[in-house]
Amino acid sequence: MPSLFDATDLINGLQLRNRLVRSATWEGLSDDQGHVTDELVELYRDLAAGGVGLIISSYLYVRRDGRQNLGQLGADHDDCIPGLARIVEAVHGAGGAVAAQLVHCGGQSTRQANGNQRMVAPSALESPGYPEVPEELSEEGIEELVACFATAARRAVDAGFDAIELHGAHGYLLASFLSPLRNHRSDKFGGSISHRCRFTLDVFRAIRDVVGPDFPVLIKLNGSDFLEGSTTEVDSTKLAVALGYAGIDAIEVSGGTPGSGSLGPARVGIKSAEDEAYFLAQARAIRSATPGVPMILVGGLRSLERIEPLIAYGEVDYVAMSRPLIREPGLLNRWASGDHRAPNCFSCSRCFAPARKGDGVQCMRLGEDKPS
Ligand SMILES: Cc1cc2nc3c(=O)[nH]c(=O)nc-3n(C[C@H](O)[C@H](O)[C@H](O)COP(=O)(O)O)c2cc1C
Repeated sequence: MPSLFDATDLINGLQLRNRLVRSATWEGLSDDQGHVTDELVELYRDLAAGGVGLIISSYLYVRRDGRQNLGQLGADHDDCIPGLARIVEAVHGAGGAVAAQLVHCGGQSTRQANGNQRMVAPSALESPGYPEVPEELSEEGIEELVACFATAARRAVDAGFDAIELHGAHGYLLASFLSPLRNHRSDKFGGSISHRCRFTLDVFRAIRDVVGPDFPVLIKLNGSDFLEGSTTEVDSTKLAVALGYAGIDAIEVSGGTPGSGSLGPARVGIKSAEDEAYFLAQARAIRSATPGVPMILVGGLRSLERIEPLIAYGEVDYVAMSRPLIREPGLLNRWASGDHRAPNCFSCSRCFAPARKGDGVQCMRLGEDKPS
């Protein structure tokens, strides 16, 4: 029976030493130009040394106006390549694999973070939690952005990454094109579901043209935005099917946006096995419509007790985690050594706070033990 500890090559031949994926996690540790720092290289080295099979990088902005956060890494200039290559070398040196996650944050940004530029989005509509109304993209503006994603993908290849993951989740630019709440366009990029899928498909195809058929390209998608009037399972399943036909190599299923309240991407208070895998229902819907496409599930996965049956019965091919690996980058190796206790992660999401202050993402409750 398949297990978390299997070596696999399901994602377009990418050799992975187990089925644990580190889901993309913003660190807040780049310099002002979005360049890699020594702390970042160490962070990625620790994750690889801790046994993670595939590390997805934090979200790398493809153009400066699409930067959401301070300390966010960039892939918007060729001078980002040498630093990114240091991350890749560190991961490879510790026996791991690493994918570059590419993003444009669209309307979910601030001028403070994005170089004081006007935000762009499919429509001039405010994103929940982001008060500035973005500018509606023209068709030429959309084409320029497609090209930015493709060029950033080429930089990721040049830096030596093993794969690319498109950030199509959490309300950022790609996801906002899919959302009927955020996309009110009446041209070929808005309206019907096939029109709302077009931007993501154009970006994917442009990247495929640059990287070629043998290079793994994944996407992180929301199963649902859990937001009145926004993307549902029906929309995301249709996009997943279209991406499957277009040749996507794996889909990571997530959900929620910054406006989804308690149903956001990083939910708090995972206290029992029943609270885990909180996007499983949406993943099942996508899985049944895309049987040949490898699936990664993220969202509150914590215990081997919950993870192993998901893999053993083929519900998912890989599981991804973020917060537990901030607290314990060596989790996989600990499990492999026979210590099967769940990670000591409180799922409190207080790990965001130090990154916002410029101190880098870290667990704020080290030294504390969860009540058992
Ligand atoms: C500090 C922090 C930073 C994150 N940064 C990203 C990111 O850069 N890209 C992304 O797709 N998701 C990001 N996420 C969401 C995670 O990848 C993941 O989807 C979510 O935390 C649920 O997984 P978990 O329960 O294992 O933490 C971040 C989450 C946290 C806690």
